Amino acid sequence: MEQTRVSPSWQPKLSTPGVLVYDRGMEAQASYWDAVAYKKRFGHPLLTGELEKRAGLGGRILDYGCGYGRSIRELHERGFCNLDGVDTSAGMIARARAENPFARYVLTSGSEIPFSRGSFDAVLLLAVLTCMPDSSAQARLFSELFRVLKVGGILYVSDLLINSDARNRRRYERFEPRHGLYGVFELEEGVTLRHHTREHLERLAASFKTISVQQFQAETMNGHQSRAIRMILQKPSRNLRA
Ligand SMILES: C[S@@+](CC[C@H](N)C(=O)[O-])C[C@H]1O[C@@H](n2cnc3c(N)ncnc32)[C@H](O)[C@@H]1O
Repeated sequence: MEQTRVSPSWQPKLSTPGVLVYDRGMEAQASYWDAVAYKKRFGHPLLTGELEKRAGLGGRILDYGCGYGRSIRELHERGFCNLDGVDTSAGMIARARAENPFARYVLTSGSEIPFSRGSFDAVLLLAVLTCMPDSSAQARLFSELFRVLKVGGILYVSDLLINSDARNRRRYERFEPRHGLYGVFELEEGVTLRHHTREHLERLAASFKTISVQQFQAETMNGHQSRAIRMILQKPSRNLRA
């Protein structure tokens, strides 16, 4: 199976041949995901009904921030057969190619999505915003996701919300002065994460038509419970923010 497919119009940012240039702050985060590529188990819930209904099993689907491809495997097992995965961690992409070879995988610097406009019937963004604490990087990502989707295509966003229990409140309060945002926190294992307000995620999604929004409880990659949200969005024929 073909392992990578990069649009001819897209070139990664390379300073020296073969070296990806990450945005500021993103390189350290990518090194963390490389270091844990074979240690973490992801299980953020993925419901495929809406994807099947709107994109079809043959629809072209991008899993953005695919990790080691466990959601690609779930899609493959449900019969989806036209799958691409993108991630900023070389370690995650290597594991995905080895363990879940049901997709074409591409390593990205994170600043652009390496596909041309209107390439996908659906894009998944599962527990990726939580690894991107910077609001402007998140906003740039949403405009890239808008670009690579077909008109009528589905953006499936699911991520973690701000919690009100004492453990979370303590860490949000501890790291708010350093990051200037309530909900951002650092883990001793070497990564900065973010839990979001629903309003913030709705603002990021403002260019899209909302099909459905659900809140639920999810287990995090470290085995804790967190509030979570699932937003099924659709690319309209014109940007609703414009
Ligand atoms: C918590 S894991 C979730 C993986 C996958 N979506 C899943 O649910 O199984 C987050 C993934 O996002 C990737 N990631 C973090 N920041 C990213 C960015 N800016 N662009 C693409 N991937 C990113 C990490 O390397 C990691 O593999």
